[in-house]
Amino acid sequence: MNNKTKALLNEQIAREFEAGYMYLDLAAKCDIKGLKGVAHWYRLQAEEEKEHAMIIYNYLLDEGKDVVLSSLHMPVHDVTELKDIFKEALQHELYITETINNIYDNAYDDCDYRTMHFLDWFVNEQEEEERNARANLELLELAGSCGCGMLRLDETMGERK
Ligand code: FEO
Repeated sequence: MNNKTKALLNEQIAREFEAGYMYLDLAAKCDIKGLKGVAHWYRLQAEEEKEHAMIIYNYLLDEGKDVVLSSLHMPVHDVTELKDIFKEALQHELYITETINNIYDNAYDDCDYRTMHFLDWFVNEQEEEERNARANLELLELAGSCGCGMLRLDETMGERK
């Protein structure tokens, strides 16, 4: 692993924690609206992001590389409408996909096959993350503006295990 890949992986730890931080923020925004099911969905997503960060953290240590943690920034601000919350979540997942692809590009250029193999899991995971974020937007579209639709959406998202 070259120094650039090491630096990018360290940065990605922060990106994943930031994603978790964002999802916790979105969970709070939904909870306060009474959308407890959506808040539950985002809380679980925040846990997943922490797991993603730790997978990279452990990979660096397993490779005998330094882990250098950096400051976190809140990726999303000032969204209150549910549609905007869902859109921001999707946009952020697209951004995370870009960051993973960027690390992959670097590993590829360096013939770092082990890191490429490691990143394959994240490439697949991002496909799922984007699909889930799109599915939430589709669910909102189906729910429409009626209270019954929103209740059903909240129940459905609250069933996430
Ligand atoms: Fe770990 Fe949702 O990207």
